[in-house]
Amino acid sequence: MKRAFAVSVSGIFLFALCVGTVFAQPSGKAIVDNACTTCHGIKKVNEANKNAAEWEITLDRMNKKGAKVKPEERAAVLQ
Ligand code: HEC
Repeated sequence: MKRAFAVSVSGIFLFALCVGTVFAQPSGKAIVDNACTTCHGIKKVNEANKNAAEWEITLDRMNKKGAKVKPEERAAVLQ
């Protein structure tokens, strides 16, 4: 009985861990698809050939225009 309880608890724990990981770290692409295609197509983003510093500047500019990229999501977008 105790053992069955332990197994189900660890099962729930593993499940929570998986769900948590999926939602805690959406891929950069999903974020960009969400946040960056309201005003222009994804093409503009994909075609831009920028290094990390230039992307920082671009993200700042897009944020000022109304893009909603949270600071913690920036790292994912920059990949
Ligand atoms: C509120 C509207 C809006 C949103 C949201 C938005 N953009 Fe833009 N973006 C613009 C406008 C307007 C331009 C053209 C004028 C300009 O370049 O400043 C542009 C131009 C660009 C360009 C081409 C110009 C350059 O600097 O190379 C890139 C790349 C770009 N956006 C990337 C992004 C990314 C990445 C996101 C998501 C974080 C995003 N945009 C979200 C409005 C938006």
